[in-house]
Amino acid sequence: MQLKIALLGGDGIGPEVLAQSVKCLKAIEETFNHRFEFVEAPFGAIAMTGSGRPLPDETLALCQESDAILFGAIGALEYDNNPEAKVRPEQGLLRLRKELGLFASIRPIKMFPAFLENSPLKRNIVDHTDLVIFRELTGGIYFGKKTLSEDGTTASDLCTYSESEISRIAHLAFKAAKKRRKKVTLVDKANVLESSRLWRKTVTNIAQSYPDISFECLFIDNAAVQMMLNPRQFDVILTDNMFGDILSDQGSVILGSVGLLPSASVGLENAMFEPFHGSYPQAKGKNIANPVASILSSAMLLQHFGLDEEANAIVAAVHKSFVKKVVTTDVLGSSKYGTDYVGDFISENIVESDDNPSINDENIGLGKSTII
Ligand code: IPM
Ligand code: MN
Repeated sequence: MQLKIALLGGDGIGPEVLAQSVKCLKAIEETFNHRFEFVEAPFGAIAMTGSGRPLPDETLALCQESDAILFGAIGALEYDNNPEAKVRPEQGLLRLRKELGLFASIRPIKMFPAFLENSPLKRNIVDHTDLVIFRELTGGIYFGKKTLSEDGTTASDLCTYSESEISRIAHLAFKAAKKRRKKVTLVDKANVLESSRLWRKTVTNIAQSYPDISFECLFIDNAAVQMMLNPRQFDVILTDNMFGDILSDQGSVILGSVGLLPSASVGLENAMFEPFHGSYPQAKGKNIANPVASILSSAMLLQHFGLDEEANAIVAAVHKSFVKKVVTTDVLGSSKYGTDYVGDFISENIVESDDNPSINDENIGLGKSTII
């Protein structure tokens, strides 16, 4: 397959972790005979230094004409610490999602056996967790009208959703559930919010056209508790932009590090693959950031194009790095391995699955370990 992939390293640790993904995709190219063209473009705080804009026009144009986008991270301390800043790097990411119509963020939280020891939660709770969050990504409170009174003492953010915005992601979630354990949980706050009541009404109607899928609704506060008490009860979680943002970071606790979690942001024409984590500016240039979230995001990219065997070859190599304890310090405090070394190890261990019988437990490496 031939793919043009835009690389947006962005800020902080973004470029470092992205570089490890590129190593892995190059290994996939060679092993499985594909052709990937990589094109880098400025994005985030780093782009603002030159153009004043976090998403320069040329970067947007490149993303529009590419088959896929791999994104590193966004955000910088100088903006986080300055509530007066008029333009923020994050606006570039939000605008990119909106311009490309990336309305669904797919965020899998899957426990691999080798990750088990890393969880701060009890093993019997997190073992075999395998859920995926479908987070609405281009609507809701993130994109609603914002106001700040002239005297700066009153502010508001409007949360608006239309039926069509809800139903397009709901259908994606139900279709995903069909290929999984056939359960969808809608997470909302319908006891308080009008927008949540519209979600509930719309999704309950849609659920009727998927009779083989069991459907339930949970309030966000309860869902947050349930996710920590018994994450195995969840298969597909469907939720709005803000609840999905919070719930997905919370879910990362199950695996013990936000540095392990990938995501796919998809629309009708474009797709971007991004780690859950932020830019971690304190770690920039120190070669300590965990590249696994980015590497697994590139596996999701492959999966998006139907390259399941290739995606699984990456997952298997990541699994091997855990088994061999070739991990960064967020996973194992005493580890002496850096970002680069972990990236090298994973990319060098990418092989066709038949060559790798030692990691065939749990179906990893057998072409059955898909990420979502
Ligand atoms: C995420 C991030 C972003 C979000 C930020 C960086 C704007 O936290 O992708 O979860 O809130 O969507
Ligand atoms: Mn987030």
